[in-house]
Amino acid sequence: MKHRVEVLHGVNLDTLGRRDPAFYPRISLTELEVRVKRFASELGLDVTFAQTNHEGEFCELLHRAPQVADGLLLNPGAWTHYSYAIRDALEVAALPAVEVHLSPVDEREEWRRKSVIRELCVGTVQGKGVDGYREALEMIRSEMRKPA
Ligand code: DQA
Repeated sequence: MKHRVEVLHGVNLDTLGRRDPAFYPRISLTELEVRVKRFASELGLDVTFAQTNHEGEFCELLHRAPQVADGLLLNPGAWTHYSYAIRDALEVAALPAVEVHLSPVDEREEWRRKSVIRELCVGTVQGKGVDGYREALEMIRSEMRKPA
């Protein structure tokens, strides 16, 4: 049974707790990960996490992902909106992936409404804060359970 999920946080997600409270929860990234780990164990999933502010490193995490995970939750931060390098690396990873955003990107500035990874993802969750990660885990779990 496929049960390993890697959660990849992109640029500036390490500053959670210091970001605009109108859009982001007032908790740290570590606290977010504690919550996500709890959601995952309730859902019978094993979860691992990585965060980087370096685009090439994010690509390398995607290259390695098939060795450590069966599915991905991705919040690439601002890279979501323009990084074709990350889009291509996600294609290389060839794992089911869900795009997650804490804030409602499609209702914010025009430039945030474009996602270059969305077409490669089985779903997107946005604007639901920390609870959105639970919904994303449920999505990825049902995708991983589909027969190959
Ligand atoms: C974000 C939304 C992005 O537009 C922004 O650049 C982020 C965080 C979110 O989780 O809502 O850094 O991905």
